[in-house]
Amino acid sequence: MTWTIYLSLAVAAGILCHSLISSRILRRQRDLSHIPLVRFHHDDTQASYIARTREIMHQGYVEYNKKGMAFRIRNPVDEGSPQVIMAKRYLDEVKNASEEQLSFPLYSIQAFLLKYSGSVLPSAAATHVTRIDLNKNLGELVEPMREECLDTLRVVIPESKDWTLLKPWDTFVPLISRMTGRVLVGPTLCSNPEWIQLTIANTAGIMKSAMEIRASYSARWQWLAPWTYRGRNDLRKLRKRATELIEPLYRERLAGKQPADPEQKHRDAVQWLIEGHQTETEKGITSAEIADGLLFLYMAGIHSTSATVVSIMYDLLAHPEVIPELLEEIHQVQTESPQWSKQSLAKLRKLDSFMKESQRLHPAGFVTVQRSTVRPYTFQDGLQLPANTFLMFPTYEFTHDGETYPNPEQFDPWRFYRMRTEGDATKFHFATVSNDSTNFGAGFHACPGRFFVAHELKIILTELLLQYDFKFAEGTARPPDHYHDFTVIPNQQAQLLVRKRQERKQ
Ligand code: HEM
Repeated sequence: MTWTIYLSLAVAAGILCHSLISSRILRRQRDLSHIPLVRFHHDDTQASYIARTREIMHQGYVEYNKKGMAFRIRNPVDEGSPQVIMAKRYLDEVKNASEEQLSFPLYSIQAFLLKYSGSVLPSAAATHVTRIDLNKNLGELVEPMREECLDTLRVVIPESKDWTLLKPWDTFVPLISRMTGRVLVGPTLCSNPEWIQLTIANTAGIMKSAMEIRASYSARWQWLAPWTYRGRNDLRKLRKRATELIEPLYRERLAGKQPADPEQKHRDAVQWLIEGHQTETEKGITSAEIADGLLFLYMAGIHSTSATVVSIMYDLLAHPEVIPELLEEIHQVQTESPQWSKQSLAKLRKLDSFMKESQRLHPAGFVTVQRSTVRPYTFQDGLQLPANTFLMFPTYEFTHDGETYPNPEQFDPWRFYRMRTEGDATKFHFATVSNDSTNFGAGFHACPGRFFVAHELKIILTELLLQYDFKFAEGTARPPDHYHDFTVIPNQQAQLLVRKRQERKQ
């Protein structure tokens, strides 16, 4: 008897939730009807949104954004979450909005269904150590990063002096994982193959779970996924294993074990997370919380940086005529200061310009500065967005706009070098964000890892340029990028030919 009462209550609650949620979705769609919709006229299917989003983004940018208006596009995998693409004039307002109004963590949770898949959530503590401690320690981290780079290059690139085939994606993901890991988990764990595998599997698992949940549950039933989704334990198991792998390091650090070299101190996110919690709260941080924070940082940093370095390599090989000039700059700087440091890396201005131009033309995605409205939000000009609306800025269009960047489709390696020399010397660096350069986001949430990335890329590229010769395996053309939804992925199948030089290049 009792169970029938429970069952009836559960069914009634389900129906209530169902009608509440679906009416909320319909209301949100109605509430956005004042914003023009841009869609595919002939084939408005999910397949078009996956492969050809760039086309309607461009159309909406020209028709609306350039006139200062926002437009919206469907979110075909989640009709309850339409996406509003904002004009540049709204950027300052979004940067200044509080976390209680427009939220980046909330956007990430909703866009990737993080609370439904058992995933790690955005970690304020891990973001804080990246923003503060990582950046404060960058100078001391240059040498350890270079050591890790040299060690890994010996493993991932054949030492042969004959031309050998190499798949850049498969080469650079482990390299980036180890170099980033060096500043996150220190010299031992960063090269542990199980740890590397696990951090890569975590990012892939988050994407896969979000896709599978959306494929199996309509927006109104996704809340059931934590109990019924068949992959609901996958990410949890992975997080548990990450905690086990962190545990010995965590215990050593809590016990105050010092580095082998008495001159050194621990400079990695594990240490900073522990120290941050020792001073701020009595309770301290658990190994599981540290593991989650680290997985979050790996998710934020590895694929984005790997994609960036692969794109830069493709651009270098597509423009081999610039290599002598880059080498000349490297030699000049090394003559003044033979060992890389934060200061000497900063002097590689042409390399910096090359990296930024490559990112301008081949970014990690079409949109950045994604936010979700925590509650209904009205912009100063009266534009209204209901709660839980996704808004974002068309970075790809900004950086391909001829009014900001003349000859936008042309790869101009020294574009930013000239802008720095002829204009403001403090602007236009690879890691600089501005309203015309939003590949690393904008405002408070602008990527806190971007200065680290600039150092990491320069360390890698100088070694590659000095130690190896490269060319495309077939033809000389740059392999085309692959587009998926808003993501830009450099070609993962292309092969390069590489050979180790007898002597470092002069
Ligand atoms: C080329 C590589 C990278 C790119 C293109 C990139 C891009 C971005 C973008 C677009 C955002 C969102 C900013 C916004 O919405 O305003 C972001 C946030 C973030 N990134 Fe990066 N990122 C990269 C590498 C890294 C690395 C290596 C780390 C860590 C070591 C990192 C850590 C973070 C964190 C913690 C956030 C969240 C910031 C917050 O919520 O305040 N990123 N990144």
